[in-house]
Amino acid sequence: MAGHFHVPSHPGVEQILSEFLLSKEDLEEVMRRMRREMERGLRVETHNEASVKMLPTYVRSTPEGSEVGDFLALDLGGTNFRVMLVKVGEDEERGWKVETKHHMYSIPEDTMTGTAEMLFDYIAGCISDFLDKHNLKHKKLPLGFTFSFPVRHEDLDKGILLNWTKGFKASGAEGNNVVGLLRDAIKRRGDFEMDVVAMVNDTVATMISCYYEDHSCEVGMIVGTGCNACYMEEMRKVELVEGEEGKMCVNTEWGAFGDNGELEDFRLEYDRVIDETSLNPGHQLYEKLIGGKYMGELVRLVLLKLVNENLLFNSEASDLLKTRGAFETRFVSQIESDTGDRKQIYNILSSLGILPSELDCDVVRLVCESVSTRAAHMCGAGLAGVINLMRERRCQEQLKITVGVDGSVYKLHPQ
Ligand code: GLC
Repeated sequence: MAGHFHVPSHPGVEQILSEFLLSKEDLEEVMRRMRREMERGLRVETHNEASVKMLPTYVRSTPEGSEVGDFLALDLGGTNFRVMLVKVGEDEERGWKVETKHHMYSIPEDTMTGTAEMLFDYIAGCISDFLDKHNLKHKKLPLGFTFSFPVRHEDLDKGILLNWTKGFKASGAEGNNVVGLLRDAIKRRGDFEMDVVAMVNDTVATMISCYYEDHSCEVGMIVGTGCNACYMEEMRKVELVEGEEGKMCVNTEWGAFGDNGELEDFRLEYDRVIDETSLNPGHQLYEKLIGGKYMGELVRLVLLKLVNENLLFNSEASDLLKTRGAFETRFVSQIESDTGDRKQIYNILSSLGILPSELDCDVVRLVCESVSTRAAHMCGAGLAGVINLMRERRCQEQLKITVGVDGSVYKLHPQ
């Protein structure tokens, strides 16, 4: 259900927004289909055609001797690139880690969509800057790389990029070993050395990080620019990797769910526009219903529809509102955080060149609630699919488990 309706709104508005409602039956159907695709992704015979790739991460349940000391950590996958210095230590029960220093670098759009060399040279440049800032250039630190894209791993520190997602499109990276691309860029500079020890997806990093505090954390989920989850799977079910003992973390890459048509009965006209105008049409269709890369734009498209139907803003949209990308996803969170005096909503709309009435403000909030609630429900259905699979694997009626969650949408959205 789309939140609470603040206004006895216009039936025309309600009809348009009702398309975003998902019934319990709808959500159970999404959960079942997700579950089916996950099983198909795990099995060797169906893996290639499955939309949900279920990529082995080589992160195992049995620790292989823990390393302690100073580490450099990189995080690439959103609009910012982060470099961190992390101290890792041991105590009797559990490891510990503290982040001592970090720096954020924004990635220019043309670097995200240029060549792989440009992108990785930029990254190496940021690392060099960080090492300079903190007087670390002389050390050869071990480095962990959070790389938040679909990677087919051969080992913990080796894997090829299958395809870019979100806003990235650097040419010459797909099909190549990502750690190799990073090592080459560091070599090209020649002003520092690094020992790349691991590359993990952000979902995996989130799960591990949460596991430090709570050993029942066996699922990681990101609701940020993109949307994805990982979980601990029985090795015998991970058919792509040899061995039967213990568990391995599987990066589901569930963002690609729907790419084989599994969501056609749920996708709306706005979703089709989003997809057609994206960098990767036909791909990541589930993610495009949920991720922060798309949520603001979805709201903008619905607002334009309401304007065209003479249901909003006196039937007139400003030039900015007609501009792709002008309605940022953080506006959705800010609008839904409005305390009721509509100030926040009014300010955002005026920054977009609109002078809204009170009713306009309320309708805009309803639109935001409809889009974000559908996203949350879709995401919840996927998560239920993952956890039900884990529960059945363990032959339990009930499964008590912790899910580590991170991402800008999860952190900023009020609900
Ligand atoms: C996209 C990426 C995935 C990542 C997610 C969240 O779905 O393909 O690897 O985990 O975004 O950042």
